[in-house]
Amino acid sequence: MKYLKIIGNKNIEGEISISGAKNAALPLIACTILSKNKIAINNMPNVADINTFLRLIEKLGGTYEKNKDEVKISTLSIDKTTATYDIVKTMRASILVLGPLLARFGHCEVSLPGGCAIGQRPVDLHLKALEQMGAIIEIKNGYIQATAPQGLKGAKIVFDKVTVGGTENILMAAALAKGTTTIINAAKEPEIVQLCEVIASAGVKIEGIGTSKLIIEGTDKKLLEIQDFTVIPDRIEAGTYMCVGAITNTKLKINNVIPLHLEAIISKLEEMNFEIIQEENSVTVLPTDEIKPVNIITTEYPGFPTDMQAQFMALATQANGVSTIDERLFENRFMHVSELLRLGADIHLNGNIATINGKAGTLNGTDVMATDLRASSALVLAALVAQGETNIHRIYHLDRGYEDLEGKLSSIGVDVKRFNE
Ligand code: EPU
Repeated sequence: MKYLKIIGNKNIEGEISISGAKNAALPLIACTILSKNKIAINNMPNVADINTFLRLIEKLGGTYEKNKDEVKISTLSIDKTTATYDIVKTMRASILVLGPLLARFGHCEVSLPGGCAIGQRPVDLHLKALEQMGAIIEIKNGYIQATAPQGLKGAKIVFDKVTVGGTENILMAAALAKGTTTIINAAKEPEIVQLCEVIASAGVKIEGIGTSKLIIEGTDKKLLEIQDFTVIPDRIEAGTYMCVGAITNTKLKINNVIPLHLEAIISKLEEMNFEIIQEENSVTVLPTDEIKPVNIITTEYPGFPTDMQAQFMALATQANGVSTIDERLFENRFMHVSELLRLGADIHLNGNIATINGKAGTLNGTDVMATDLRASSALVLAALVAQGETNIHRIYHLDRGYEDLEGKLSSIGVDVKRFNE
């Protein structure tokens, strides 16, 4: 297994360019299943989860060609409708083929995603909504078996809880369903907005894009003609590199971002006493004479993202005072705490609230274990300011969602190398 060795050093400088958003690209690849034409997608991040999803499209019978950050996908040849366990177990986002496969073929089978390191992550809301659209769903031998003998029909869906993946699955299903689907309490993340825009590029009428009420007019066509598009920048990768600037307390410019998508992150960094310069496509973190503590509650967009909580915890270890982080979305997203403790952090957990007693210069390098994608990036951040050497094990988690992490960090002066155990 591979591990990263980072030698703590605060002298970083330069600029970082952000890649396409993994969490936008995954549903967008799924949505190519709805289209009869080949689609060229630009700014596709080169990360393991994307490669896994492309493999899934191939296993279903579709094809793709990759050239740098452009991927052309053709799904007209899809002739299988099962997302098998071997793929779903490595990537839960495989559930995103459920809506489009069912809408296109009238039946499909998707291995039921199990829990994962950050929580149980059920998919009951996806299934209930599809049933309301006329699907018959059975769970058998670990698989979701879905059929829609009469085809899917539009329905009024009220999500009990805001769900990103659930909203995406229903949006895609609704595009090929008969009649109008209304989604109440829809997710509003930028990734959802882009999915709406891409589906709308095929002539599907969607009202309320970017709000919690989406109204989708299903088309009469069997398949759509989706236009080529460019994946939006990854706001979580951007936020993570903003934390690189902040934790090392040096000026760092982050290019290829949409500052509007970063508002909650910028606001929390400002509360921590950092000045952030916002330009059209970039943000720059400036150093501060005192890192102040912060209180964070994770919530749905446009609130503070759960995907940035671990990184801010690493940053809070360097603040002058006591910070709190209240995780409201996932029940077990604090696996990084015990690893940060190994580095010498002073953190107490009470249920889903972490209290971080910050004091600069208290971290000492050692061996730590990555447990999930964002937890791993918190360990990288901590390693940047830890005294001596930190070895981060199980970095396949990082490779799932951060493109060329070592290359980007090395380019700003971080001493980071990858080794085989
Ligand atoms: N939930 C249910 N039932 C459902 C669906 C969700 O109870 O049917 C619960 C979940 O257990 C969770 C909450 O609702 O407590 C929100 O889950 P959501 O469905 O919104 O999350 P997701 O679609 O599975 C996406 C991102 C995650 C990100 C969350 C929240 C992708 C591929 N994944 O997951 O990203 O944390 O939204 O913003 O878009 C990551 O990138 O590291 C990551 C985990």
